[in-house]
Amino acid sequence: MTARADPSQVAEVRAALERALGPGAVKADPDQLRAYGRDESDTGEFPADLVVLPSSASEVQAVLRACQSAAVPVTPVGARTGKSGGSLPLHGGVSLSLERMNRIKLISPEDLIAVVEPGVITGELMKAVEARGLFYPPDPASLDSCTIGGNVAENAGGPRALKYGVTRDYVLGLEWVLPDGRLIRAGRRTIKGVAGYDLVGLFVGSEGTLGVSTEVTLQLIPLPRQVMTALITFASVVDAARAASAVLAAGVLPRTLELMDDLSISAVDGRGFSFPPNAGAALLAEVDGIDEASVLGELGRVGEICERNGASQSLAAQNEDQRQKLWSARRSIAIALRAVKPCKISEDIAVPRSRIAEVISRLKAMGEELGLAVATYGHAGDGNLHVNVLYEGPSERPKVDRAIVRMLELAVGVGGTITGEHGVGYAKRDFLHLEQAPELISLQRELKRFFDPAGLLNPGKMFPEI
Ligand code: LAC
Ligand code: ZN
Repeated sequence: MTARADPSQVAEVRAALERALGPGAVKADPDQLRAYGRDESDTGEFPADLVVLPSSASEVQAVLRACQSAAVPVTPVGARTGKSGGSLPLHGGVSLSLERMNRIKLISPEDLIAVVEPGVITGELMKAVEARGLFYPPDPASLDSCTIGGNVAENAGGPRALKYGVTRDYVLGLEWVLPDGRLIRAGRRTIKGVAGYDLVGLFVGSEGTLGVSTEVTLQLIPLPRQVMTALITFASVVDAARAASAVLAAGVLPRTLELMDDLSISAVDGRGFSFPPNAGAALLAEVDGIDEASVLGELGRVGEICERNGASQSLAAQNEDQRQKLWSARRSIAIALRAVKPCKISEDIAVPRSRIAEVISRLKAMGEELGLAVATYGHAGDGNLHVNVLYEGPSERPKVDRAIVRMLELAVGVGGTITGEHGVGYAKRDFLHLEQAPELISLQRELKRFFDPAGLLNPGKMFPEI
């Protein structure tokens, strides 16, 4: 296990970095240290000893070199919206924040690419490319505050993954600093390119354990000209889940098919958008394409299939303002559920789409059996469900832990995964073995050791500590 750095080692790194980056780039104020020690994973607070804010790739190299030479742990951090604790400095040391590296360096309509620094806010990039008639589809719910670097580290998904895929599908190239401070460029700026091993594929989703991105080359696509959105309500979440499977089985591919159960709806109802009374569940369906008639036709088909599968109402957003309000309600579910009970554990299973309704009913039954409030929402279209266990406090925790293990076993048992998009990080490191064989886990540990023999980069993530 990586020990917490001792104060003299931290002092050595601090002096080296104040010299190399200037004193304004090195922070040790206790409030700041605490703030960088928290994220959206609800797993606790792990303050670093220093927060360091480099402004260039060479400064990132200097930080990693200094940490290696003083044997101080270093953990990269984006905007702290992560849900698996990937950016928590479990062993203290340095929080390496990329927030000052926030330039969009290039948007090329001719090459259909963008080149950005890792601290660019995802939603800002989306707006900038959309102003040029281009589209960057991956849309994590935290898009107003999360960063591209964080999205790359976690291979972030989002509602539109259903039609357009996840972050990895858009990363063409990476400028990357290895744990020992070496800088490499991996990948390409063309759509095609098969030279060498796919290190970009490996680094995207490596959860800050194999290095740090300092520049990201992203593929863009043309902006769909028409987008239409509808909220379709149901009496029960199982009906809604069945309808979602039926839509996909009918050969319709909306760009989103989001599910919300009754608890999720009531958590956000009235906060900018009022849901129809008595909605026991809802699907948020969005369809896009080139011309109005065909997009309208597709949305109509989604509505008809849902009606045949028990939908009570279908409300199409009448204008952009309504659309945005619907989406902001959807995106705020994770945060809003915190108000329902003092504690929550948010899960992120993904299951084959044909099994969604069955999994939801089994989880509901489990919640009832254990006497736990379970809220389910998420990306039903791609089988990625955010199942949240809401509870009163530590006395209920053993029961909650049992529920979590049962839920993850259920997901894996039907051919799914313990994490669809939030990552393993700290929150799920003890559960990776439920999904992956010992040989696979030890191969990945060897890979980690190859890149980071001293184990100083983001220690304690992805695999249990030995
Ligand atoms: C969402 C986050 C929790 O989909 O992934 O809201
Ligand atoms: Zn999600």
